[in-house]
Amino acid sequence: MPVKLIEQKNVTLKIFDDRQEGCEYVAGQIQKLITEHNRLYKSTVLGLATGNTPKGVYKKLVEYHQRQQLSFNRVVTFNLDEYYPISAYHDRSYHTYMEHNLFNKVDVHPHHTFIPDGEVPEEELATYCENYDHQINHFGGVDIQLLGVGVNGHIGFNEPGSKISSTTRRVFLDEQTRHDAAPYFGEIDQVPRQAISMGVHTILKARKIICMAWGAKKATTVKEFFEDEITVQRPVSYLHTHPNVHLVLDKEAASQLELD
Ligand code: PGA
Repeated sequence: MPVKLIEQKNVTLKIFDDRQEGCEYVAGQIQKLITEHNRLYKSTVLGLATGNTPKGVYKKLVEYHQRQQLSFNRVVTFNLDEYYPISAYHDRSYHTYMEHNLFNKVDVHPHHTFIPDGEVPEEELATYCENYDHQINHFGGVDIQLLGVGVNGHIGFNEPGSKISSTTRRVFLDEQTRHDAAPYFGEIDQVPRQAISMGVHTILKARKIICMAWGAKKATTVKEFFEDEITVQRPVSYLHTHPNVHLVLDKEAASQLELD
């Protein structure tokens, strides 16, 4: 049964024909904000996601940059998560992903790109994670946080069971998450069992959240988002408590919603 949408003031829903159009829309929002801030000599703090979902956004941002329409020289970025333990140079690390998809191709300052370090010694993890949140605050907080959503409703690596009050920390990956990552690592045994992830509370402090979902695989997760009460079982439901969420979908991801 498709879910009937009830207007939710905090959630702006945008549905596009395909993911490319959706990604272009999101990149356009980011470009607008950075350009506005650049004009005022003000920095822009972006919260970045990895995975398949935001790839088209980064592609479009690179295009803007190459056409001299966008400079990242006042941009500061904080990534949501990184596997743990993992070397930054591993070809499946999120460091490698970000270099390849964005950082190597734009003029962002290397000292202004923060990604959790998958090689922090275990005994330093707690302090390291606390500092990650402090750094975000130090730069004035996140202006726009990009999010994908896992089939199991995770945001970042905040798996089912993650508390709304959680801050950046070491987490244990859900079997579903490891299963989804297995094709990229070759086999499931190669997928790390842990990660460092921004917490739900950390994510919800962003001034604006843009959550994207593409494809039929995410349709049930999207439907549950609109059906669900806030539940620890699906951390994406915590977005209902945020005042400024943009949910950007393609038609397939929206296929179980009943729209007027
Ligand atoms: P995906 O993953 O972008 O690769 O679909 C999203 C997520 O699991 O958060």
